[in-house]
Amino acid sequence: MADLLLGQVIRFTGDPFDTLHAAETLSQGGVLVGAGRILAVGDGTTLRREHPGARVHDYGQKLISAGFIDAHVHYPQTAIIASWGKRLIDWLNTYTFPEEMRFADRAYADQIADRYLDLVLQRGTTTVCSYATIHPESVDAIFTAAQARGMRVFAGKTCMDRNAPDGLRDTAQSAYDDSKRLLANWHGVDRLSYVITPRFSPTSTPEQLAALGALWREYPDCLMQTHLSEQIDEIAWVRDLFPQSRDYLDTYEAQGLVREGAVFGHAIHLTDREKARLVEAGASLVHCPTSNTFIGSGLFDIGLAQSLRVGLATDTGGGSSFSMLRTMAAAYEVAQLRGRSLHPAQLWWLATQGSARALRAEDRIGNIAPGMEADLVVIDLASTPAIAQAAARAEGLWQALFPTIMLGDDRAVAAVWVNGKPVVT
Ligand code: GUN
Ligand code: ZN
Repeated sequence: MADLLLGQVIRFTGDPFDTLHAAETLSQGGVLVGAGRILAVGDGTTLRREHPGARVHDYGQKLISAGFIDAHVHYPQTAIIASWGKRLIDWLNTYTFPEEMRFADRAYADQIADRYLDLVLQRGTTTVCSYATIHPESVDAIFTAAQARGMRVFAGKTCMDRNAPDGLRDTAQSAYDDSKRLLANWHGVDRLSYVITPRFSPTSTPEQLAALGALWREYPDCLMQTHLSEQIDEIAWVRDLFPQSRDYLDTYEAQGLVREGAVFGHAIHLTDREKARLVEAGASLVHCPTSNTFIGSGLFDIGLAQSLRVGLATDTGGGSSFSMLRTMAAAYEVAQLRGRSLHPAQLWWLATQGSARALRAEDRIGNIAPGMEADLVVIDLASTPAIAQAAARAEGLWQALFPTIMLGDDRAVAAVWVNGKPVVT
């Protein structure tokens, strides 16, 4: 039996970084869902008349949107979120690596994977693209947890063969072998996608990057994710480690890791050559604003969304929140610091279609349109007294949504649908 969700509907007919007309709202809209897909979208009363057998879920004035897509996370860092007082390299050595060591234990990996996916679902996130740890079992854990929830999830084994502690290093060969086996086991199973995942150039030898470049050539349709130019100290370290490379991007480019389907997290301090090369290659960038402020990395240039696929992400646990609402607020603030006021429709697009495009999955997720997968979030625009009084003064839906973007938390998430089924109500 089909389900009919009634409420105010947000959908995109194009990119609001090109024109704001690409963001559409239906004030008394409806979304018809069946067999995990969106069957129809339009006027609520009309859909109700045309589909009298559908189960009706009347969300009143609440907003129905595509679920949020968090395009760069480290699920194994769930328990170390909000760790005090370090910048990138010290933060990795002090908090991250000791915690990631624990994922050699499959039971612990399962526990955190379950906890993590429940935390994000409660916040309206229906897809994540995650790094695991070097342990293959940590990939099995997140995919098993995602499968149990019917979620579309991207993930890969993090590869590191240097500059990481004992117990947290693989080799070029084992990274290739383990990644290939995991890819064969999981890629395309249900809603799961394997992502080839060298952590970043400082923790991979050129030999390891080359091995993963070779693997990617064997499986060209999967994504490759890594970090790029996050902090100034990190970039200087890359220069020391790769004296023959022109710049940070070149350390990946030299091994065949820069092309369509490459997803670079952070990408804050880019040279003109790197920007031009990224555009030419059709690569994707992921903006991680709460992480970039929390770890003290810098201010991403959202103007790059004009020429590149740019997604939005929490970067859990370098980021300081599991919530894509909080992440949109941070993206707004970072853009303000660079002299630009992002429109609420642009923020919302980044958290849905923008991230879907960055992950090259925009034909399936991140928007409300017939044929798209039915991953939806229902947002209460008056979830607290503070938000309600600010929204009451707003003109139009986008301005009414802005107080929720800036002040909203999990209380704003009234319902979440995954694969056509309600999972948070
Ligand atoms: N660079 C390499 N690894 C990491 C990580 O785990 N988090 C962040 N924010 N940056 C990284
Ligand atoms: Zn990261």
